[in-house]
Amino acid sequence: MSEKRRRILVTSALPYANGPLHLGHMLEYIQTDIWARFQRMRGHECHYVCAEDAHGTPIMLKARQEGVEPEELIARFADSHRRDFDEFGVGFDRYYTTHSTENRELAETIYRRLDEGGYIDRRSIRQAYDEQEGMFLPDRFIRGECPRCGAGDQYGDSCEACGATYSPAELRNAVSVISGTTPVERESEHFFFRLGDFEDMLREWTGAGRGGSPYLQEAVSAKLNEWFEAGLQDWDISRDAPYFGFEIPGAPGKYFYVWLDAPIGYMAGFRKLCEETEGLEFDDFWQAGVEDETEVYHFIGKDIIYFHALFWPAMLHGANFRTPSAVFAHGFLTVDGQKMSKSRGTFIQARTWLEHLDAEYLRYYFAAKLGSGVDDIDLSLDDFINRVNSDLVGKLVNIASRSAGFIRKKFDNRLGPEMDPDGQTLYRELCEAAEPIAADYEQREYARLVRRVMELADRVNQYVSDKAPWTLAKDADREAEVQAICTAALNHFRTLAGYLRPVLPRLAEGAEHFLNIAPQDWDSLTEPLLHHEIRKFKPLITRVEREKVDAMLADSKQDLAEKPATENDEKEDKTVEDLAPEITIDDFAKVDLRVARVEQAEYVEGADKLLRLELDLGGARRQVFAGIRKVYDPEQLQGRLVVMVANLKPRKMRFGVSEGMVLCAGGDDGGLFLLSPDSGAEPGMKIS
Ligand code: MSP
Ligand code: ZN
Repeated sequence: MSEKRRRILVTSALPYANGPLHLGHMLEYIQTDIWARFQRMRGHECHYVCAEDAHGTPIMLKARQEGVEPEELIARFADSHRRDFDEFGVGFDRYYTTHSTENRELAETIYRRLDEGGYIDRRSIRQAYDEQEGMFLPDRFIRGECPRCGAGDQYGDSCEACGATYSPAELRNAVSVISGTTPVERESEHFFFRLGDFEDMLREWTGAGRGGSPYLQEAVSAKLNEWFEAGLQDWDISRDAPYFGFEIPGAPGKYFYVWLDAPIGYMAGFRKLCEETEGLEFDDFWQAGVEDETEVYHFIGKDIIYFHALFWPAMLHGANFRTPSAVFAHGFLTVDGQKMSKSRGTFIQARTWLEHLDAEYLRYYFAAKLGSGVDDIDLSLDDFINRVNSDLVGKLVNIASRSAGFIRKKFDNRLGPEMDPDGQTLYRELCEAAEPIAADYEQREYARLVRRVMELADRVNQYVSDKAPWTLAKDADREAEVQAICTAALNHFRTLAGYLRPVLPRLAEGAEHFLNIAPQDWDSLTEPLLHHEIRKFKPLITRVEREKVDAMLADSKQDLAEKPATENDEKEDKTVEDLAPEITIDDFAKVDLRVARVEQAEYVEGADKLLRLELDLGGARRQVFAGIRKVYDPEQLQGRLVVMVANLKPRKMRFGVSEGMVLCAGGDDGGLFLLSPDSGAEPGMKIS
């Protein structure tokens, strides 16, 4: 690799220390972990740091409720988080906590420098106060009737019934959620960060209204522009005692607001890592002016952009530290097309997943869906099952499982001196994909690279099917050919499994063990393995079973079963409506249904419903126009197996002749779902 060795620090947002991790969290940690692993495979120095976000009112109150010290509560969640991360293969170099000496010192330094720079104002504000508890109440801890529509039991800042926003003082019949008493208004001095002083610097940094910036995604930059137009407000960075956090130096009874010291937790975690690592220097990554020498990237969810793209760079700049190389925001996770829902059982905790399903399944599925944008990502459970079974089991691992046996039985576990010529040609093509795939990783276009790898896996499987070593193996004179073919196929497997190594570290490790090779870096993936002894093949991954997914959903419902059933519970009552008139088996036999593979899919100019598909029927080719453009992108369909009516009379359409029909479930308004056979099916197979 000719690129110079980069020095990179990567972070994910710090999870709050008062609740378990769920799959939405995992989307972020998996996205980041893949990127960090990729950078290391490329030979770069890459440190991945994260921590517990330990401070704030909710944590303080929860500890109080349980009758424990906050330290005990956060230690407990830290343990559970660590275990989840570990089992999902999320490999931090340091996982720390914001409730640490390092973080206190850094927060104090930053605050002091901002104060000296004149960026901190002090002024009195009026706020709701709970006299019985002796504390000021955050808006979320006050409930009452909406001043606009009168709906009861609304939060102190906004109404869920009519969408009105207001101040807690306007709420009618307000009560403190903590004590149940009526809050009073009380005055207190707060500290404010003068964000507006950084407007020029921030406009430059965010590129808002100036066509974007190298530090942020385009959509994020555009969103920020709206915020600039609304005007940058001073930021209230202090909270009054009692509060679980760091006391502000020189201001007894005043604490840093949790969001002030939370991002500083990135620095603190890294400082801790430096203390533990010979030769790693904090200043190399954080001093002002190191932007050209070292890189710092923050992966975050789209809900916390404001903190990371405005407050954070301004704080760093104002305190004379370096600013981030980029902030990468991702969208939110939905499950089966909807917000994760407790009543549907789709609010899935990381732990619940691990109890039923392999962590790598989820890593693969997220990778297969993630791009570089901020769009939400849907975990569609049917698609998930299909995807993992057809891609990982049916395509990738299938390459190894169908070739390994011959090498073991006939050649004493030894790969041959060369690949067969066609296999060699295909191998070269696989190697040529290394740089495009690397570029996809770098740009966080994981879905694109997964697609590339699976297209290549299809080609390899086709190659093995065409060569049919199982037939040749019956002929004693053709043994060398069998070895050359299987040697090629296993080299193909090695390269493809290696390309997915950042996504599937455990599968890759299993592949490395089977192939009897060292942990792979990017360059080694394209060096052929010849004259080489391998080990016995063991299945590297098993099929996802529907029952396990169902059991996981059932458990997710149970996780929350303490809550009584509510009006949100949906009625499950399905009937099949409008059945067509009865037919005989002979009628049915007239329809020739076949498995087909989508060889090509493209938009049809001038047709807003149609895609043009070219289908492989196991030798024969067919062109079909299908009305599925609304729901499927052509790219998505490439290589996919579908079910087609093969003996439908060709129909001349405005755009060409349609020679058949692909089967879909649904239609009308209920969505549209292409039917696919289970993995392992081959184009041309008859369906009965
Ligand atoms: N503690 C703050 C972050 C401080 S960073 C200096 C926080 N914690 S969180 O636990 O609520 O969220 C942690 C990360 O997970 C955030 O980046 C958040 O966007 C992400 N996600 C939380 N729920 C999510 C989904 N449902 N989907 C995708 N990401 C989600 O915010
Ligand atoms: Zn209302």
